[in-house]
Amino acid sequence: MERKFIPLSVPNIKGNELEYVTQAVKDEWVSTGGSYIETFEKNISDYLGVEQAAAVQSGTAGLHLSLIQSGVGVGDEVFAATLTFIAAVNPIRYVGAEPIFMDCDDSLCIDPDKILQFIKEECTFTDGILTNNQTKRQIKAILGVHVFGNLMDMEKLVEIADQYNLKLIEDATEALGSYYTEGKYKGQYAGTIGDFGVYSFNGNKIITTGGGGMVVAKKKEDLDYLKYLSTQAKDDTTSFIHHAVGYNYRMTNLQAALGVGQLEQLESFIETKKANYDLYKELFDQNEKVEVIDFDATIRPNYWFYALRIKNDPDIQGIIQALHEKGIQTRPIWGLIHEQKPYLKAQSYKIEKATYYVKHILNIPCSSNLEQDDVRYVAECLNEIL
Ligand SMILES: Cc1ncc(COP(=O)(O)O)c(C=O)c1O
Repeated sequence: MERKFIPLSVPNIKGNELEYVTQAVKDEWVSTGGSYIETFEKNISDYLGVEQAAAVQSGTAGLHLSLIQSGVGVGDEVFAATLTFIAAVNPIRYVGAEPIFMDCDDSLCIDPDKILQFIKEECTFTDGILTNNQTKRQIKAILGVHVFGNLMDMEKLVEIADQYNLKLIEDATEALGSYYTEGKYKGQYAGTIGDFGVYSFNGNKIITTGGGGMVVAKKKEDLDYLKYLSTQAKDDTTSFIHHAVGYNYRMTNLQAALGVGQLEQLESFIETKKANYDLYKELFDQNEKVEVIDFDATIRPNYWFYALRIKNDPDIQGIIQALHEKGIQTRPIWGLIHEQKPYLKAQSYKIEKATYYVKHILNIPCSSNLEQDDVRYVAECLNEIL
């Protein structure tokens, strides 16, 4: 029997999604108004234990609006991760600011100790303003990513942000459902601790709306204004009065209908992902050349993406090709952002671990509809190749 192709991460749409989307179509509410949008916002905020959420067109749009609302603008600077997807950095440029690229720690997330080191060695803090000594520009925010569903060290990051008057934006696009099980933020979900938290429902995320995002914020007035900006800044909906430059960033009712159905299954997706992750761990246990990277022990991760660290000096592209020939899709971790063409002139600081991980990590199939038999086949092929 021929095996079916095993993709890396694909949507899993087998719940009430079709019923809800059909209802939205039948109601003829398909655009940026309609009851599913509010239901989705309410269900997400209930799940996260926050008061409110704002549904937007994408995670990227959510990050863009969060930066605007953080007061980051032309000529400012923002601490950003180099080991991430580029959408976590581009919005810094959308607002005319510049990233300062930071290394990751062993959680693969931005390293707070290096941020602090940079501040102490390279900055001046006077009258509540943090200035980069080299560029003379003000640093206004930290935009960090909860990579692959792992969690950043928010205790340290909040401390730094409070001490140096920085806004803290959590890119939780990959981490919906991850929360702390220990420490100061025990019980709190990714995205709900900083000034803003942004989620994505892109096709490869743990739940999907095709494309879409959600924003939560510490201050209600920030979220209200962000929502206003996302809907073309309408001050008077009947006479077209606008007091700000708005955006067409609101989620549609069709996307939200899909999201309501997906959210109902989030916890079961996490259960499946955990079971498959545990099985991979067991199957690679005897292979000394590889290690399935652990999620932090002080969190309940959402197990979104599995990262396999291949020791020695691996030919990642060769491995990807060999697996492709066996009907398995895998991918390298991203290209480091400070090495990408648009960012070659940006400042970066002691990038060491990210450079190592980028050469050693392979992302392996992790869809929430992946069968255990598929996990066994992937591990068998990899154990054979390595
Ligand atoms: C870390 C990170 N940030 C931002 C985004 C952007 O989200 P979206 O695709 O919804 O714009 C993604 C994923 O696509 C991501 O992985």
